[in-house]
Amino acid sequence: MKLQKVKGTKDILPGEAERWRHIEEKIRGVMARYNYGEIRTPLFELTELFAKGTGQDTDIVTKEMYTFPDKGGRSLTLCPEGTPPVIRAYLENSLGRRFPLVKLFYIAPMFRQENPQAGRLRQFHQFGVEAIGSPQPQMDVEVISLCMDIYQEVGLQGLQLKLNSIGCRDCRASYRERLKNYLADKSERLCADCQVRSVKNPLRCFDCKKEGCQLVMQEAPSTLDGLCQNCREHFQAVQNGLTDLGIPFEVDPGLVRGLDYYTRTVFEVLSSGLGAQDALCGGGRYDDLVEELGGEPTPAVGFAAGMERLLLSLNEAEETARLGPDLFLISLGPQAQTASLQLIHRLRKIGLRCEMDYLGRSLKSQLREANRQGAPFALIIGKRELESGEANLKDMRNGQEQKVSWADTQRIYSRIRGKDTEKPPIPM
Ligand code: HAM
Repeated sequence: MKLQKVKGTKDILPGEAERWRHIEEKIRGVMARYNYGEIRTPLFELTELFAKGTGQDTDIVTKEMYTFPDKGGRSLTLCPEGTPPVIRAYLENSLGRRFPLVKLFYIAPMFRQENPQAGRLRQFHQFGVEAIGSPQPQMDVEVISLCMDIYQEVGLQGLQLKLNSIGCRDCRASYRERLKNYLADKSERLCADCQVRSVKNPLRCFDCKKEGCQLVMQEAPSTLDGLCQNCREHFQAVQNGLTDLGIPFEVDPGLVRGLDYYTRTVFEVLSSGLGAQDALCGGGRYDDLVEELGGEPTPAVGFAAGMERLLLSLNEAEETARLGPDLFLISLGPQAQTASLQLIHRLRKIGLRCEMDYLGRSLKSQLREANRQGAPFALIIGKRELESGEANLKDMRNGQEQKVSWADTQRIYSRIRGKDTEKPPIPM
C-alpha cells in the first residue's frame, strides 16, 4: 500500500509555511494590541466536553467528531473547535477568580470529519479569541473589531459582516416554541434530519443546507421578533458601537450559527472569493456556557476563523513575506568553500539569512541558484579573493558590484540591510 496523507489533511511545505508564519505574526501583533493573552490547550479532550459544550444536536457532535477510546476506556475526541476547551481550561485553572475579565486567544489545529473540498478540511487551523467575564455590548464590539482589524492587517478587502441576535435563555425559550409550532405542519417539506430537529432543537433547522429546508426556514419567524427588552437594547448597543467605529455590517435574521451555546449576538464574516465555503469566521456571545460546564454564571463572547480560508482568499500578490536568503555565498574551489563556511557561520550568527553552495557547482550555476532562491545579494569568493581579502558583493537585482573586505561581517550586514542599520541586531 502506498503511504499517503489522510484524506482532508494537508502538508504545509517550505514556502507555504512562510506564508503561514507571516500571517500568524500579523495575527499575534493584533492580539497583543488588543491585550489578549495566548492560551494553548491540548489537542484532545474528553468527548463529554463537546457533547455538553458544542451541543448534542449540532452537526459537529452528531457527525463530525474524531472520537476514540483510550486504554483506560475513556472516550476522547480530537478538538473540533476551541471554545469548550478554553472554557474548560478557564475553569480548571480558576482564571476567573484571579481576573474579573479574561481575554484569551489561540491559533491551533482543529479536526472535523467533513467532506473535504476547497476551504474545508478534516484537519484545519483556527485563530480565535474568547473574552470571558463581561456582559457589556462594548465587549462584543471589541471582539468584532479585533476580528475585522486582523483581516485589514493582512490586506483582505471586500468582506461582508453579518450580524444577528438570537436572544437570551429566557426569550429564546418562547422563540423555540414559536419556531416549533411553525414547523409542526411542515414536516413533509423537511429532510429526515430536520424532521427530528424541528421537535428536539428547532434552531438547528437553520443550519441545513438542503434546498427544501432552506425554503421553509426563509419563511420562519425571525429571532429578532422574539427578543426581550434587554436583548433588544443589547443588540441595538452592539450595532451602535459598530457604527461608531465605522465598521459596516448587515443584520441577517436567519443567522443562528451551528453551535448550541450562543446567546444574543452572533456574527459571521463572509468573503465572496471563497465559493461555497464562504464563511471566513464566525462567533458570538455565549453567556450560559461557563455555567453549563460547571462554573459560576459568567458571560462571554468570542470568535474563531479558519486559517486556510483566510490564506485562500488572500491574493498571492498581497503577500509581503520575502522568501529565501538575504545573501548567497558563491565559493569557487575547496579552499574558498572552507572560508565561506566559516564566514556564513558568522553572518548567520549576526542575523543574516544566508545560503551557500554544497554541490561544487560552477560560478554560473551558483549564480543561477542564487537567482532561483531570490537572494538579493551574492558574495563571490575564489582564489583571488582569498589572497586579497576583498570580494565583490553583487546586487542581483541590478547587477551592480561593490568591493568589500569579505571577513568584515559588520560591513556586509550593513551593505545588505541598508545604511540605517549599521549595527546588527545580534551583537557580534
Ligand atoms: P465555527 O463557525 O464552527 O465556529 O468555525 C469557525 C471558522 O472555522 C469557520 O468560519 C471556518 O472559517 C473555519 N472552519 C470550520 N470548519 C472548517 C473546516 N472543516 N475546514 C476549514 N475551515 C473550517 C467555531 O468553531 C466557534 N468555536 C467560534 C467561536 C469562538 N464562537 C465563540 N467563540
